[in-house]
Amino acid sequence: MPGRGLILAIESACDETAAAVGERGARTVSSAVASQIATHARYGGVVPELASREHLRAIVPVVRAALAQANVTLADLDAIAVTSGPGLAGALLVGITYAKALAFATGLPLIAVNHLEGHIHAVLLNERESQSPDRAVGGSRSQVPKCEGPRAPESEADAQSLALVVSGGHTHLYLARPTANTWHYQLIGRTLDDAAGEAYDKVAKLLGLGYPGGPWIDALAQHGNPLAVPFAFSQIKTKLHLAGKAPRTKAAKTAPIANLDPHFLFSFSGIKTAVLRYVELHNLRPEAEARREALFTGPDAPARPTVEDAVATCDPQTLDLIASFQHAVVGDLLKKTFAAAESLGARRILVTGGVAANRELRSRFTAEAARRKVSVSFPTLALSTDNAAMIAAAAWPRFLAGDFAPASLSADPSLALGR
Ligand code: KG4
Ligand code: ZN
Repeated sequence: MPGRGLILAIESACDETAAAVGERGARTVSSAVASQIATHARYGGVVPELASREHLRAIVPVVRAALAQANVTLADLDAIAVTSGPGLAGALLVGITYAKALAFATGLPLIAVNHLEGHIHAVLLNERESQSPDRAVGGSRSQVPKCEGPRAPESEADAQSLALVVSGGHTHLYLARPTANTWHYQLIGRTLDDAAGEAYDKVAKLLGLGYPGGPWIDALAQHGNPLAVPFAFSQIKTKLHLAGKAPRTKAAKTAPIANLDPHFLFSFSGIKTAVLRYVELHNLRPEAEARREALFTGPDAPARPTVEDAVATCDPQTLDLIASFQHAVVGDLLKKTFAAAESLGARRILVTGGVAANRELRSRFTAEAARRKVSVSFPTLALSTDNAAMIAAAAWPRFLAGDFAPASLSADPSLALGR
């Protein structure tokens, strides 16, 4: 059995290099994240080769920072955990290679964690931390939370949660159930093309806003009329689904679509095109180029443009477009998530991933959950976007189950979760 139950987790699936020390899947002792936003911002998206290079630069200092913040050494650890997929192959490999080297050198077991499972555990971790008397990062070591592995469900309704993982790379619905020492995931729905966060990023780029686009659109949407442009999501056709069409993006490959209810499938490439058409029809492109220059690329661009700077570059029509885009995306996520929860009898909804940081999403999901008398939980903002604390939390049940990775562990860019 473990000593303190400390797991060092490493996450490098996309554009954040992160390391954390977690205690028994219930407490984050330390969490360090090195963001690559500044590197990718000028390209308006993640450049895979640059991501790998930045992970190589950051991995050693980030792991050292996590150990130092936790006031532990490698000798205090019980296991090393690492994200093995899905994600960018070169980026994942940096974390995996380093984790394998650490595990080999220390003789500690290595635990492979699915990035999507990590996002789901971000919410569960928050719930456990809020129940623990000693919940702050770097808090006292002496008080160990009681919770070990998945909690015993208080009722049948508690036994299963519907998890919406909504980020830059994924928009997936899972039914998550604790079983003995581990968790079982069933894929319920997912996007056929772009992820919701990807649509946010592409629309932001089109409008001359920064990368990642989600936080900019979130902030600017507060200043527009969400009902000004009536964007609509068409129902995903059964025929398309049953024809088993090949997924259209890399993200869509992370899970099969066969046997999924078409009502729980998402598609965000259409709204992206609708925004593009609106921009062209209303001749907003020159204004978007001027905005990009004023805020980011021009000689007089501020070092750190603020929301106020961005609002000053937007006319009411653009602000209405942004607010309407967000209203439509959040509305579609909300409609399908609650429909799936109702159809599956899940009374507990978890929303996680970068887009779960969105204010409109949080307030509308919270209001809808209250109306339907179901519960909805989100991670803290720091745990919504990529981090390693969630990987340490997801690794704990695997540690208890003795589910260790072989020395041959490699990156799996399209690793699926559940079936
Ligand atoms: O989970 P995450 O950090 O990385 C992936 O696993 O993809 O999610 C990043 C995504 C980006 O697309 C970003 O634009 C989006 O999350 N995002 C947001 C917000 N904050 C981040 N989208 C909407 N509103 C936000 N406040
Ligand atoms: Zn993620």
